[in-house]
Amino acid sequence: MTKIQSVVRGVGGYLPERVMTNDDLAKLIDTSDEWIVQRTGIRKRHIAAEGELTSDLALVAARRALENAGMDASDIDLIIVGTTTPDMTFPSTAALLQQKLGITGGSAFDVQAVCSGFVFAMATADSYIKTGMARRALVVGAETFSRILDWTDRTTCVLFGDGAGAVILEAREVPADAPEDGVLASSLRTDGSHWDKLYVDGGVSSTQTIGHLRMEGREVFRHAVGMISDVVEEVLAKTGKTTDELDWFVPHQANRRIIDGAGRKLGISDAKTVVTVDQHANTSAASVPLALWVACEDGRINKGDLVMIEAMGGGFTWGASLIRW
Ligand code: ACO
Repeated sequence: MTKIQSVVRGVGGYLPERVMTNDDLAKLIDTSDEWIVQRTGIRKRHIAAEGELTSDLALVAARRALENAGMDASDIDLIIVGTTTPDMTFPSTAALLQQKLGITGGSAFDVQAVCSGFVFAMATADSYIKTGMARRALVVGAETFSRILDWTDRTTCVLFGDGAGAVILEAREVPADAPEDGVLASSLRTDGSHWDKLYVDGGVSSTQTIGHLRMEGREVFRHAVGMISDVVEEVLAKTGKTTDELDWFVPHQANRRIIDGAGRKLGISDAKTVVTVDQHANTSAASVPLALWVACEDGRINKGDLVMIEAMGGGFTWGASLIRW
């Protein structure tokens, strides 16, 4: 008897060149570095250049992940891009990324779960691999959130940034009793009754505009810690693991206070928590793969480590995955 594992082969990331600090923002709107740092932990964010598209950010992250995996683009037979800021209404950003990578085989599609997009994409890719539908998946989170921000609204525009991250999963057929490796378990949830707490006030079918991000920040905050903790605990229960066994907790990077609150509720120490929100702000679906990339590059996450990823965002959507790296 054998089983198929979805093992991690590579990780990559990309941040646009232009950096916008809190002080830069304070020149545009009535805010301050002190307010932003105190309420969110954010110090700066990267902003895509004019003409630099979500698929362009995804392309650099994807190439870096391929290089890290020692693979060619032609090895990939599934591309899933988690994004809420696609280049176009259609085709998908994944199809455009596939074209930029110079490949035509396999399948490619986007997953739209806002800030949870990468976690949803990873769980989807894992299912494709475990059911034999794909062998090598390029899973990307890529966003140009700067394009849907209302730059006159200080309650939202200070929170977000642009970027992309990518992970490559590969099928490995092993004996049924082989040691655990790769994606061990995931849980995904959506509760659309909360849609109006975090949304974009435009769209193809409604206004024929792209709209701007609108958010009831306090309401999002109120739900975030509980939802994140629930889903992380559910994944731990599925695998029979405890938080003590985790080597790394890689949460969605929305707000330092949400990260700290979830860590406290789950009993996960700061020392095991990867935080990039101070440097990148909230890059929505790109935040988790960017944090994974940073922590792999600086030597914190290593092969064999037990890593919990989680995210929560518009919808509401939320989810978590436990990965033996
Ligand atoms: N600079 C200065 N003052 C500001 C700013 C700003 N950028 N934004 C709001 N304020 C003011 C408000 O106008 C208000 O002033 P008032 O008291 O005179 O009316 C005061 O600060 C307090 O505003 P609140 O909205 O109550 O501030 P709060 O402490 O709730 O912090 C924040 C706001 C940071 C948005 C918080 O609610 C939060 O973190 N929510 C989570 C939202 C989030 O992270 N969303 C990301 C997307 S969802 C996700 O990824 C999970």
